[in-house]
Amino acid sequence: MKLSRILSNQNGISRKQANALIAAGAVTIDGATCLGAAREVDRFATVASHGRIIQQGEQAHYLMLHKPAGYLSATEDKVHRTVMELIHQSLHSGLHIAGRLDRASTGLLILTNDGGWSRRLTDPRIKIPKVYRVSTAKPISPETTERFAEGIWFEFEQLTTSPAQLELIGSKETRVTIYEGRYHQVKRMFHAVGNRVTSLHRESMGYIHLDDSLKPGACRQLTETEINSVR
Ligand code: URA
Repeated sequence: MKLSRILSNQNGISRKQANALIAAGAVTIDGATCLGAAREVDRFATVASHGRIIQQGEQAHYLMLHKPAGYLSATEDKVHRTVMELIHQSLHSGLHIAGRLDRASTGLLILTNDGGWSRRLTDPRIKIPKVYRVSTAKPISPETTERFAEGIWFEFEQLTTSPAQLELIGSKETRVTIYEGRYHQVKRMFHAVGNRVTSLHRESMGYIHLDDSLKPGACRQLTETEINSVR
């Protein structure tokens, strides 16, 4: 919401008065004077005028979870246990998953209550690299590298995936970098070249790498540097 709107939503302040207060340098966002009436302010920012709090910023949460196999990437489910069971109850409110993993998949899962931030992390147009360690049922052919680099046609979505890179680790093991997060994307890409994924582990999303010290099921808050890497 625009800053002037936040002020004028308060009883007794018109839009004109709000603009005048902002222009006079009487309004702060998180303690810093803001002169832009049109500045977009999210619900995590604290807005004040003459020392009076107009909007108290909510606490934003950004969590990294080492997802174990067998947990659903969902906030609730009637049948399966969900990753929320691994996160302290006090953090649950408004939390959502920024880029799901299949139930059998493991590794880096990011949860936040900041929708703008998670949209940037997962928006296919922004092309943030997501790196997976993958094992397959059959040896990975040289053709796989070429086909992934060209992009794989997904009939259901009527699109070709962005070029993806493979870094072979063994004959049936590789690191795959993709730039989108389509439904079952990695599994479907291997299926398209006649192979099958037997295990899939996400190592990183952009500059955010799964912390080696996190055991499966453990989580921690992201650091300022990790959060800002998506801004
Ligand atoms: N691609 C998949 O197929 N599964 C995942 O869990 C993540 C990416």
